[in-house]
Amino acid sequence: MPRILSGVQPTGQLHLGNWAGAIRQFVELQQPGNEVFVFVASYHALTTLRDPAVLRDNCRQVVTDYLAFGLDPARTTIYLQHDVPEVTELHWLLSCVCPNHLMDKAVSYKDKLNKGLSANIGLYCYPILQAADILGPQADIVPVGRDQVQHIEITRDLAGMFNHAFSCEVFRQPAYRLSATAEVLPGVDGEKMSKSYGNTIDPFQDEKALRKRVMGIKTDSKGMDDAKDPATCPVFRIAKGVAGADDPRIIDLERKYREPPAGGFGYGHAKQALFEILLDVFAESRRRRAELMADPGAVDACLRDGAQRARAVISQTVAAARAATGLSA
Ligand code: TYM
Repeated sequence: MPRILSGVQPTGQLHLGNWAGAIRQFVELQQPGNEVFVFVASYHALTTLRDPAVLRDNCRQVVTDYLAFGLDPARTTIYLQHDVPEVTELHWLLSCVCPNHLMDKAVSYKDKLNKGLSANIGLYCYPILQAADILGPQADIVPVGRDQVQHIEITRDLAGMFNHAFSCEVFRQPAYRLSATAEVLPGVDGEKMSKSYGNTIDPFQDEKALRKRVMGIKTDSKGMDDAKDPATCPVFRIAKGVAGADDPRIIDLERKYREPPAGGFGYGHAKQALFEILLDVFAESRRRRAELMADPGAVDACLRDGAQRARAVISQTVAAARAATGLSA
């Protein structure tokens, strides 16, 4: 039975990019025949967060959003990374077979440095912790957005290096899985949608604020009667990433971009269409989230159960890895 695993950092409100690139895949993959693990990468968030109340709040928020987006605790093991401390032991065991050059070339670290964020050893070793997340439950498939591909490749390298170093077969090699429609969703400024760029769209915002955010998406200055290029317009790219290329609303939108109908078709119309698509696609999630906010017990129960299930699986792998190194003797 294929094991699926992925996670999101609790560094702020989840956004459309997280959903389109990753969370939508988690929900699709919850099928009989798959064993799905989805966690909150709380240790990873510590590489940047310094406010305990914010970290605690964000963790709950991510779980609430997972449930609202349609993750089902009866089918998916949902847990907080720090509820399974064995992950950090695995991180250490993997660190000891990891050559420095593997971390030096990690883009997530280089990107953060380039943005002027102060680096710490946690940030430098971030991909090793991510490898421990993936190898702990022995995942076969890791559904992620394109920016995470290098991390999965590093994970494969580390799995092989450990097996080779200790002449064992403790770890299997995972593969990444990208979303068919939205490998990288742009934000309101046309750059990659990212919490750290302040360009995100939150699908749970109240209608008025959501509409304002959508109306603020950056476009060029083409007029109502000018033909427009959908491929370079963030409004169109977000709509397509959310609804999918085959959706009749997207086909209609694309036609209007290329050939504005009599009376014209401007970016205001395109933004209104996107706003309506968002309200439609997320209607059920928005309703469920409002219910969950009023029922904190549901999140607690989900996490209690998830921690137990995840820990049982991951501690077996860690025990096998310890044994392979000689630590268990
Ligand atoms: P994070 O928290 O940055 O993002 C969570 C997921 O959302 C995807 N994503 C996007 N996809 C498409 N377009 C975008 N604009 C966009 N922005 C974000 C990301 O690719 C990711 O899949 N290192 C990970 C968290 C992590 C993890 C793991 C993931 C820790 N351990 C083990 C998988 C397996 C991260 O920072 O994701």
